[in-house]
Amino acid sequence: MKSFRKDFLWGGATAANQVEGAYREGGKGVSVADVVTVGSHTQPRRISLDLDPQYYYPSHQAIDHYHHYKEDIALFAEMGFKAYRMSISWSRIFPDADNETPNEEGLAFYDGVFQELQKYGIEPVVTISHGDIPLALGTRYGGWPNKKAIDLYVKYAVTLFERYKDYVRYWIPFNEINDIFLPMSSLGQGAMLDEQSVYFTEQADRPEARMNALNNMMIASAKAVIAGREINPAFHFGTMICHITRYPRTCHPDDVLLVLEDDLYFNNTCADVMLKGEYPFYTLNRFEKEGIQIGLSEEEKAILKEGVCDYYTFSYYQSISESTLTFEDQTSGNIMGGIKNPYLKETEWNWPIDPVGLRYTLLKVYDRYRVPVMITENGIGCVDRMEEDGSVHDPYRIAYLRDHITEMRKAVDEGVDLIGYTAWGCIDLVSVSTGEMKKRYGFIYVDCDDQGKGTQIRSRKDSFYWYKKVIASNGEDL
Ligand code: BG6
Repeated sequence: MKSFRKDFLWGGATAANQVEGAYREGGKGVSVADVVTVGSHTQPRRISLDLDPQYYYPSHQAIDHYHHYKEDIALFAEMGFKAYRMSISWSRIFPDADNETPNEEGLAFYDGVFQELQKYGIEPVVTISHGDIPLALGTRYGGWPNKKAIDLYVKYAVTLFERYKDYVRYWIPFNEINDIFLPMSSLGQGAMLDEQSVYFTEQADRPEARMNALNNMMIASAKAVIAGREINPAFHFGTMICHITRYPRTCHPDDVLLVLEDDLYFNNTCADVMLKGEYPFYTLNRFEKEGIQIGLSEEEKAILKEGVCDYYTFSYYQSISESTLTFEDQTSGNIMGGIKNPYLKETEWNWPIDPVGLRYTLLKVYDRYRVPVMITENGIGCVDRMEEDGSVHDPYRIAYLRDHITEMRKAVDEGVDLIGYTAWGCIDLVSVSTGEMKKRYGFIYVDCDDQGKGTQIRSRKDSFYWYKKVIASNGEDL
């Protein structure tokens, strides 16, 4: 059986708004993440543009990585990380989105982070926009549906490329860019503020504005890629797709067709534009049928064609089942749920667990795009318990990751060019969908609860030692 490549990028992933905290320190501006309160599995997160002292806003403190980054990176190094996927907080660099000059204190913070990573030989994989859009992009400009957002983003991206060109080679223009196909991403991805939206997961919908936001984001990505390659031809740019792997719930042809159509639309649109340089026929036709106009000019088409990415990354947590028929039992999940799949177990948050689906997805995306593939998010959110002696036993996490890595290996054996794997939430962090801390993904336990209380002390879980062994053996010793 083929092994993982020798330079395989084993590591972990986080996002600035879910770990950094220090939300007004070092000149940082308020971001869209900073106006969303804590929620729970049953209580949706509220959006409150005027911060209300009766609520806790998890991004304000998160796990205080801003002050603990050296300690955190040392722990990643102890596990043997080869790569660390992180994001830069846009509102730390351009606090109001349209500032004339960048915030030097914000830039200096990331100098420190990259120097620390370099010290341990850890390759940064940097997401330029991951849920940290300056709130002012929404309040002043209406967010991503406005073409002005393209210029602001490109200015921000170019600032990063010039400043960090000697530290960073792997860039990801947007996290899970295709999330914006769903109304719940209007705020987080689109900075589209809507007076009527009270809950993060139930936002008012403006489909045409969302699709214009998406189109503008992809043009911005292409422009950034073009500019970035001029600054450093050795840069790599990756698309990042929230890959919702779908199965028909029955073998009724209508169910099979439904899954195909949703796959073409949700999973393929952005990757096609960002890797092949043009919209797939299916999406353009669907826009037309639904009366959605994105007004793509010839000049913009040429930009999309030129500014393509060179590797494919995606998040994979689960698969979902769909049907045209009615089934009572539902699951939830990363961004969306589906019908209960009788063959799969679920996490405590009702996300189906499907390691084989990861192999299926790897084969499918490699076949379609034929560029190197990196899994930039995968993991399981669980309630962990710390024992009196400070240990945390998390066999369920080890089992989940082992099963997924086993399937990755089989995909490699079948010929997929897999270059890296960054497990999501390598250190416990704030959940996006619920704002909770108790939904933990990490190898490293952080003493912090859903209301931000705790010592912030870091502890190694059993999975920490297990993952260290996996990396040391290049995925042989699972
Ligand atoms: C992905 C996001 O969709 O899912 C992450 O890119 C997020 O930011 C992850 O944290 C897991 O979702 P959740 O809701 O459990 O945090």
